[in-house]
Amino acid sequence: MIKDIQEEILRLKKERGAVILAHCYQTHDILEVADYVGDSFGLAQNARKTDAQTVIMCGVRFMAETVKILCPEKTVLLPEADAGCPMAEMISPDKLRELRNRYPEHAVVAYINTTAELKTLCDVCVTSSSAAKIIKRMPQDKILFIPDKNLGSYIAAQCPDKEIVTAQGCCPVHAAVTEADVKDAKKAHPNALLLVHPECDRTVVKHADFVGSTTEIMDFAKNSPAEEFIIGTENSIVQHLGIDCPEKRFFPLSKNFICRNMQLTKLSSLLHCLKGNYGEEITMPEETRLLAKKSIDEMLRLGNG
Ligand code: 13P
Ligand code: SF4
Repeated sequence: MIKDIQEEILRLKKERGAVILAHCYQTHDILEVADYVGDSFGLAQNARKTDAQTVIMCGVRFMAETVKILCPEKTVLLPEADAGCPMAEMISPDKLRELRNRYPEHAVVAYINTTAELKTLCDVCVTSSSAAKIIKRMPQDKILFIPDKNLGSYIAAQCPDKEIVTAQGCCPVHAAVTEADVKDAKKAHPNALLLVHPECDRTVVKHADFVGSTTEIMDFAKNSPAEEFIIGTENSIVQHLGIDCPEKRFFPLSKNFICRNMQLTKLSSLLHCLKGNYGEEITMPEETRLLAKKSIDEMLRLGNG
């Protein structure tokens, strides 16, 4: 049954001249039909490279918006219109204007998990895998980092030469994991390495053997000689690694580590989106796109190489 749907997806994809981009948190059956799978930075880089006229972004809304910002001539489709990232909505444009007034000398660095509208008010975007490199390369010493206070404080420790002020947002999924979860998981799996996403609270991050983006966590686990790992990010990564590395063992840091928004997209959503009767085409005012593009272009310029 899954194989039949996947074959139909591949046929329709070819017929429509579409490409499928998928974030690592999508289910494995979606990754199997995707043309590119990666973290937020890789998705933005690959969006620019494709010649296809239609891009289907399996992930959440800000990721599809990023594709549209970079590729205005393309039809960009989000298979599940309700798949949003709660963190992207945590700071309103008015709140950011207020913060800019309070910190007039600070450059505004926005995590890519923000709305297109908010990106119009930022100087540069970053992702979890590119933030430290980009901030170190920025000429400004004073940084206002929005909206993720956890990623912001992790990056502040990586960039001791910069004065970094963080906002009060967070990812509700990563922030819900606690130090008690770490203690329980380590007790149950004493030989496992702990791999953690920097959106987690610093009381969790401080116990990690490795901290990185979704792709970086997967690469680390695949290349490490270790055989057991506790995965401190969304549980889809436990599933992917278990399939990709059957000789190793992967355990979730918490059984509740599930992003409902990321898991909204099913293989059937993708199928119906390709059939043209489901999903949402991403649009935005050209003025918003052009202003938001400046911060994403800056991210790709400073984050590459
Ligand atoms: P990555 O850039 O690490 O894939 O993070 C995206 C995200 O939403 C993590 O919660
Ligand atoms: Fe947003 Fe958190 Fe889900 Fe990532 S895991 S998409 S940051 S809610």
